[in-house]
Amino acid sequence: MLKIGHRGAKGYEPENTLIGFEKALALGVDQIELDIHLSADGEIMVIHDETIDRTTNGSGCVNSLTCTELQQFRIREQQYIPTLIEVLDLIDRKCSVNIEIKSTNLADKLVTALERFIIEKVWKYSHFIVSSFEWDTLEKVRSLNPEISIGVLTETNIEDALAFAKKIKAQAINPDFQLLSKDNVSAMQQAGFQVFPWTVNETEDIKRIQSYKVDGIISDFPDRL
Ligand code: G3P
Ligand code: CA
Repeated sequence: MLKIGHRGAKGYEPENTLIGFEKALALGVDQIELDIHLSADGEIMVIHDETIDRTTNGSGCVNSLTCTELQQFRIREQQYIPTLIEVLDLIDRKCSVNIEIKSTNLADKLVTALERFIIEKVWKYSHFIVSSFEWDTLEKVRSLNPEISIGVLTETNIEDALAFAKKIKAQAINPDFQLLSKDNVSAMQQAGFQVFPWTVNETEDIKRIQSYKVDGIISDFPDRL
C-alpha cells in the first residue's frame, strides 16, 4: 500500500513547496502528490489554486502572471511557488510523483515535460502518474502518449469514474475516500485499476480505508499510514 504525501506533506509544511516536498521525502513516502497550473509565459507552476491569494503574500491569477513574477511572492516568508522542473529535480526519482492537472490548457506542455525528464534525466514512466478531475484533459494526455499512467479523480461517482477509466485505459481511480466501500474498492481492482483515495488524515479513517485493501492512500500526514 503506497504511502502518498498530499501536496508534499501538507500536515507539516506549507503545501506544494520545496520544503514540503523535502519533508515528504524525509518521512519516507512512496509517492508525492502535487498540483499544477500554467503561468502567463507557459511555465508549469506547482500550486493548488487558480490564484496565489490564499498561499502567498501576493494576489492575482497564476495564468496572468509570468514565472518570474510569481516567484517574487513568498509562502510563509522563505518559500516560493516552484516550477514543476524544480520539484522534479529535487525529488530526483527518490519516489514517484502524482501530478494533478488543475487547468485545462496543460496537457501538451505536461506530456512534453515528462517525456523530456524520461529521455534526458533517466526518469521512467513508472515514476509518474497524471491525475485530474478534468476528464477531457486526461483524455488529451492519453491521446498524446499511451504510456503515461493516468489516475481518474472523482469526488462524486465511482461508477462513472470506472467507466471513464476503462474508456481511456487509465491505470488508477483516485476517489474521495468517503465514496469508498469494501465492495466498490474490490470492483475497481477486479476491473484492473489501482485505487488511491484522498485525503485520509484521521487514524480511524486510515484504519478503515486500509481494511479495504486499497493500493495507496493520499494523506497530509503520510507518516500516519
Ligand atoms: O489528488 C487528490 C486530491 O489532491 C484532490 O483534491 O483539492 O487536494 O487537489 P485537492
Ligand atoms: Ca491535488
